[in-house]
Amino acid sequence: MLNTNQSIVQEIEISSLKNRGISLFVKRDDLIHETISGNKWRKLKYNIESCVVKKKKGILTFGGAYSNHLIATASACHKSGIKAIGIVRGDELNAESNETLKACSMLDMELVFVSRKDYKLRIEKAFVESISIKYPNFMIVPEGGANYYGMIGCQEILKEVEVKPDHIFVAQGTTTTSCGLAMGLIDNQILHVVPALKGFNSLSEMESLYLQSGMDLDWIEQLLGKVEVYPEYHFGGYGKYNLALLNFIKEFYENHSLKLDPVYTGKAMFALMNEIQDVSFNDSSILFIHTGGLQGVGPIEKKSGVKLF
Ligand SMILES: Cc1ncc(COP(=O)(O)O)c(C=O)c1O
Repeated sequence: MLNTNQSIVQEIEISSLKNRGISLFVKRDDLIHETISGNKWRKLKYNIESCVVKKKKGILTFGGAYSNHLIATASACHKSGIKAIGIVRGDELNAESNETLKACSMLDMELVFVSRKDYKLRIEKAFVESISIKYPNFMIVPEGGANYYGMIGCQEILKEVEVKPDHIFVAQGTTTTSCGLAMGLIDNQILHVVPALKGFNSLSEMESLYLQSGMDLDWIEQLLGKVEVYPEYHFGGYGKYNLALLNFIKEFYENHSLKLDPVYTGKAMFALMNEIQDVSFNDSSILFIHTGGLQGVGPIEKKSGVKLF
């Protein structure tokens, strides 16, 4: 089990914000661990605990070829001495195809490569049942750690923060992190979510994860009432980026020594910096949740030819 003491709250000093009475802090979950970083440990913690308590053989989960979640699961299971199976999207791939898959394999994760067509079925009941028969007594964790255990792990993030911010900003993929954060809000805090996907219906996806977790509609409505969505910062869609985003990340690092990634946290910080120009943010404190993702930066630097850090 990892401890989260390294996840400090760091203030980012920006004089134009200070002049407006705005304090900006970052919850550095990216510092939790090299590979089980950011929201990954939050989402895996109770999945692993439950796997051990229920005496399951190990964890079986899903991911794409560069999945942050897959490598984090491989690493967390390795550390906890439990077996890990990763169902990987793409039957043209193998354990040598890239650094992420090589690392998963080095950490003893059994990699099972399936066609993109079959991978799409991963949320179908019949497919999950067939997997349970093929790999009996494994705990099946959805892609991105998107389940009840993942959500309650993320609920713990705000409990560790002493400054009580008025606004919390976070990147969104499966919604697990934002669902957990929304459950941890107090008083009039507002959660601002920035989906990394194009055409993503944040509130309905959050509702569906809450419903899957057995929560009732009244409570869900109350929680979603505290969420503000910024759907226009996807930069073309999941995994897409442009030079403006890469330059923003580069400059942010040069000015504040904070590394962001182009898939999630860079988009969310870009949104934050743009949205807080609005006067409604004057005289408030803002907390950005750094959800990690930095292991994916290398291949993007290589592909784009832009050195970010
Ligand atoms: C680095 C990073 N940030 C943010 C997210 C989005 O989190 P969630 O899927 O819980 O919405 C992910 C995906 O898990 C991620 O890898």
